Amino acid sequence: MSDQQRKIYQSEGDRYEALISREDYQGNIPRAIDEIVSVDGLDVLDLGAGTGRLTLMLAPRVKSIRAFDASAEMLRVCRERLMVSGLSNWQVDVADHRQLPVEDHSVDLVVSGWSVSYLAVWNPDSWRRELEKWLGEMKRVLNGGSFIILFESLGTGNDSPIQLDHLKDYYPWLEEVGFQSKWIRTDYKFESIEEAEELSRFFFGNELGDKVRKNNWIILPECTGVWWKKISVNHDFNVTLSERSLRAKSLG
Ligand SMILES: C[S@@+](CC[C@H](N)C(=O)[O-])C[C@H]1O[C@@H](n2cnc3c(N)ncnc32)[C@H](O)[C@@H]1O
Repeated sequence: MSDQQRKIYQSEGDRYEALISREDYQGNIPRAIDEIVSVDGLDVLDLGAGTGRLTLMLAPRVKSIRAFDASAEMLRVCRERLMVSGLSNWQVDVADHRQLPVEDHSVDLVVSGWSVSYLAVWNPDSWRRELEKWLGEMKRVLNGGSFIILFESLGTGNDSPIQLDHLKDYYPWLEEVGFQSKWIRTDYKFESIEEAEELSRFFFGNELGDKVRKNNWIILPECTGVWWKKISVNHDFNVTLSERSLRAKSLG
C-alpha cells in the first residue's frame, strides 16, 4: 500500500490533486489550524507539501510560505497552482523533512499534512532515529514559541477515529515527545459515484474502492488527527543542559 503511494508521488501528481481537491468539503482543516494559532503574518513552512493543499490554503494569509517535498512531480503541481494564484510570497523546493535548506530560527510555524508519518512507515528499522532527526531539524529552524501542526490519518472510510496499524509506532511517539492532539472529520465529496470509486481505488486500493461502490459513498467519511506542539526555547535549552549533565555524569 505505501509502495503504491510512493509510486503515485513520483508520477501521478495531477491524479493525486484530483482526489484531494474533493477532501474536507466541510472546511474542517483550516478551522482546526485557526483554533491552534493565528497564521496571519507568519513565516511558514509546509513539509511534504505535495500538490500544495496546505500551502495554497495558508498563502493568502501568511507573510511567506515555503513548500518542501521529496517529490519533484508533486511540487510541479503545487508550483503550477501557486503561479495562477497571483500571490508572490511563496517558494517551492525539493527537500527532505530531515534536512531543510532553511536558516536557523527563521520560521514561525511548520505545518505538515499526511507526510511526516512516512519517516516511520518507510523506515521500519530506524523509525525512531528518523523521527528524532526530523524533530531536531524543527528545533533548529523554528523560533522559540512557534508551533508545529501535523495532520495524519485516523481512517478513511471511517465515521469515528481508528488507529491505523502501519502508524502504530508513530502515534505514541508523538505523544511521548509532547504533541497534543484532537481529531476532525475530513470527508470527501465526489461529483459522482464513478469518480468516488475511481479516485479512492487509485490511491487507497481495491478494498476501499469496493467499499465505496458497495456503500454508494459519494460522500466518503474520513477521520483525521491533528497534532500540535509549541517549541519552547527555554524547554529545549533545559533539555540540552540536562542531556549535557547526563553525558558528563556517564563520562565521569
Ligand atoms: C499524502 S501526501 C501529502 C501531501 C500534502 N501535504 C497534502 O496534504 O495533500 C505525502 C507527501 O509527503 C512527501 N514525503 C514523504 N516523505 C517525505 C520526506 N522524508 N521528505 C519530504 N517529503 C516527503 C511525499 O512525496 C508526498 O508528496
